Amino acid sequence: MSDNSNPLEGAKHVTVIGAGAMGSQIAMVSALAGYTTALVDIAEEYVERAKSQLESRMNRDVEKGRRSQEDVAAAFDRLTFTTDRDGSAAQTDFVIEAAVEDLGIKRELFTELDQICPPHAILATNSSNIVSSRVADATERPDKVCNFHFFNPALVMECVEVVPNEHTSAETVETAVALAKSFGKKPVKLKQETPGFVANRLLGALRTEALKLYEEGIADFEDIDVAAKTALRHPMGPFELMDLVGVDVVYLIRMAEYEQTGNPESLPRPAIKELYEAGRFGRKSGQGWYSYD
Ligand code: 3HC
Repeated sequence: MSDNSNPLEGAKHVTVIGAGAMGSQIAMVSALAGYTTALVDIAEEYVERAKSQLESRMNRDVEKGRRSQEDVAAAFDRLTFTTDRDGSAAQTDFVIEAAVEDLGIKRELFTELDQICPPHAILATNSSNIVSSRVADATERPDKVCNFHFFNPALVMECVEVVPNEHTSAETVETAVALAKSFGKKPVKLKQETPGFVANRLLGALRTEALKLYEEGIADFEDIDVAAKTALRHPMGPFELMDLVGVDVVYLIRMAEYEQTGNPESLPRPAIKELYEAGRFGRKSGQGWYSYD
């Protein structure tokens, strides 16, 4: 970080808001990359759960020889698990919001963060579907707001989409791209906003076809997964992937997209709605398309 041309110069402190599956792994990625990082949530139990899950994950990486014990210990020294959002935000250089996909909550959060964070801080959202222009106007710094979108599991998946809104400055984009690279990720820079960005639009097309095949009774979902894995060499089938990402997340993404496009094609498919209403959210709830111990 000593190179004068590096837009990250001076940026040392990252705050991640939301200790769910995405937020917690993003915070770990940041701490492993050398940043002083705070993982913030509204309740102690959420941050404690994230901490114990990350500890197990890191222990496994050490056991398997993927990381050294020293690197992991140093990362945990840099990582704070806290409910003190404002204390952390007041000293941060870069915020990554990974809270629930609810526009009202995000807007409120961005307004408050704007008031608390130092003027130079970038306020990014990990949202996959709520484009940043919808939260940027809740702040006095729309030039420093963008989407910074990771993929699940964030510790493993290399892609990070950097998506500017029409007010985002070139410097903000440059800083976000540099941060993603310093995280060891492969940034994909979009030129403009679109709901779903690049990867989820690609994935959405496959998922919709998979759901139609299932709903039309053409094949069992397990067999559709087998086809995706063995014919297309995808690491997971679309139904397994929905369980990993969360059926609730898939449902809320489609609802948010519908709100933005008004196109009935954007609405969640009936099979998703049924699972969502039954509380079958996937791995996190023990049941989704598949059952988990
Ligand atoms: N968290 C962290 N690391 C994980 C993990 C998790 N949840 N699951 C697996 N891993 C890592 C571990 O290191 C694991 O090794 P270990 O079991 O020895 O600890 C290693 O990956 C291999 O895992 P598995 O043997 O269980 O299975 P795979 O070889 O199939 O790998 C996978 C797992 C990396 C998740 C792989 O199946 C994969 O790439 N799946 C596709 C994931 C994908 O498409 N993600 C994008 C989803 S869309 C999204 O996130 C967008 C958002 O907006 C909704």
